[in-house]
Formats: sequence, C-alpha cells, structure tokens
Amino acid sequence: MLVLGIESSCDETAAAVVRDGREVLSNAIASSLEEHKLYGGVVPEIASRRHAQAISGVVSQALSQAGCEAGDIDAVAVTYAPGLIGSLLVGVGFAKGLSVSAKKPLVPVHHLRSHIAANYLTSKLEPPFLSLVVSGGHSHIVAVNGYTDYKVIGKTRDDAAGEALDKAGRAMGLPYPGGVSIDKISAQGNENAFSFPHPRVEGAPFDLSFSGLKTSVINTIHNASQKGVEINTADLAASFQKAVADCLIGALERAAASTGAKKIALAGGVSANSLLRRRCADLCKRRGIALFMPELKYCGDNGAMVASQGYYEFSAGVRAGASLNAYANMPIDDVKI
Ligand code: KG4
Ligand code: ZN
Repeated sequence: MLVLGIESSCDETAAAVVRDGREVLSNAIASSLEEHKLYGGVVPEIASRRHAQAISGVVSQALSQAGCEAGDIDAVAVTYAPGLIGSLLVGVGFAKGLSVSAKKPLVPVHHLRSHIAANYLTSKLEPPFLSLVVSGGHSHIVAVNGYTDYKVIGKTRDDAAGEALDKAGRAMGLPYPGGVSIDKISAQGNENAFSFPHPRVEGAPFDLSFSGLKTSVINTIHNASQKGVEINTADLAASFQKAVADCLIGALERAAASTGAKKIALAGGVSANSLLRRRCADLCKRRGIALFMPELKYCGDNGAMVASQGYYEFSAGVRAGASLNAYANMPIDDVKI
C-alpha cells in the first residue's frame, strides 16, 4: 500500500511516499529555516506563506521521485495537529483538495505520533515500547502500546527540551536553532565547567521541567556580563546540554524501571542530539534494553514519518472528510478528528 504523507506543522514543507509504512520511496522537503534565522525563531506568518508557496511543488516532487502519480497512491496522510495553526491549515487544505480530486481516502495524523513512527522507517521496531519524544514544542515519555495506542506517562510541566535549548542558544548569541548550535559547539567545551540545577517535579517522577534551567543559564550570562567576566561559550553550552540530557535520561530511566520496558525509541528533533543519543545508548546497555533511534535525516520534521504513521492509522480505520480541521494543541493519547 502506498501512502503520500504531507507535513507542514512548523517551518518545513514536506511530502513523501512510503510503502506499507516502512519503505521510503521518496522524501521531498522545502524549509523556510534560513528566513526565520534572521528573527531568532520561527515567525508563524512567514512560515504559513512559505508553505503556501512550496506545497504544490514539494508534493509533485515526492510523487515524481517515487515514480508515481496521484492516482497510484492509496491514501493521503496529513499532519493536522499539533503545530502552528496557519502552517497546519496549508497542509490540511492541500491534502483535502488532493484527496477529493484523486478520489483517495484522507488520513489525519498527529505530529508526535509521526515523530515516533520515524523509527519504523529504518528499523524493525514494533510496539509495545517506551518512547522519549523531544521536539521544539513537546517533551513526553510515552508508552506506545500499539501503532495507534498511546499513554503519556510523563511530560514537561513548562518548556519543551528543544525550546529550552533554542532559548539558551539565543541567550548565548548562537545561531537559530539553538539546539543544533549547542550540540555543535559543545564538542569543544567542558561539560563540567558550570553547574546547573536538575529540577525534579515533586510526586511526579516521570515529569520534566526546563524553565528553571533556562532561567539559570540566562542569569549566568547576565551576571557575568555585569561583572565584566568573559564566559567560554563552548563550556557554557556543553554544561547546559549536559544538564538537559541528565534531566531527560533521569526521567526516562525511572519510567523504564517502573514499566519494565524492553525497548526504548527516541523521537523528535532533539533526538538528533549527539549527547542524548550517547547517553540513551549507555542507559539501554546498562539496563539490557533495546534502543531505537531515527536516522538523523528523519529526526526533524519530514513527510516520510507522516506517511508511515498514516499507513498505521489507515489500517486502524482512521479517515477524515472535507470537514477536517487543524488544531494547535492535541494530546497524543486522546485525539479527536
Ligand atoms: O521535531 P522538530 O523538528 O520540530 C518540532 O516538532 O518542534 O524539533 C525541532 C527542535 C528544535 O528545538 C531544535 O533546536 C531541536 O529540535 N534540535 C536539536 C538538534 N537538532 C534539532 N536539539 C539538540 N541537538 C540537535 N542536534
Ligand atoms: Zn516536529
């Protein structure tokens, strides 16, 4: 079965054709990231406009690279939540039109479910497993009990891990996105140079909190500049990255121990982080858990992961009609269409 996946929840306009949820036939992408860099973060209005300009070409590219036409695909899957509402609406509107004109079923896909499905593209991973989903907007620990069956067992109470990294990177004067810049510059830094708090949420051992950590790095920078002390940015970045990884790994390990997880899968843009990948590998080795991580090219937003999850949603009977809407927020384990 061939599924066309369409993704436009943030600043990437992406489309892909995937066979039976696992085999990537094409993966086309256009990004407005360079434009957002000028403003230090994603500007929703710019993102929506660029999606509207790019989407037709990106979908055509995905179909032609896969050697097919719209009539050859079996379903159109599209990200409809959560994300930037104006951006989501471009993908949803285009997918609806294509579904009607090509007379193909329309399958709505939750963005975080698709990030988890990125693991299916390059491994034989099957549920049940535990997933650490870390992106720019979300940080969740999710029990994936089936391809369309999820239970959130921990989440951030404030900022997402990616958001904290992006804001810290900005405060350090590094290019957007801060997560990518911090990962790069940390390779030259000493991760023990600065000591940051490791916040825990009382009574919720699998929950996370990053806002205090973010404030702490901003205060460190302000205090140093007031005293005229020069900070080594690589040391600061490495120490901050370590604190973020410590918090994520701590909660993940507690969740793995409590649920008796045999498999762990990383997901989301922050799963590209080199330290997080190493630390997860250590954790899983120590505890005899099988670790799955998406290939780097599938960690960030892409169409292939949407097509993969779309296949499993379709197989579970999920369909949408012309009334499909987009939603800025939606829990992964309680979706509505
Ligand atoms: O999943 P994603 O592409 O978009 C959302 O759904 O939010 O995630 C984007 C986030 C950004 O915060 C970005 O800084 C972060 O992923 N990110 C990284 C790395 N690559 C992307 N964070 C740390 N290390 C990286 N290598
Ligand atoms: Zn994403």
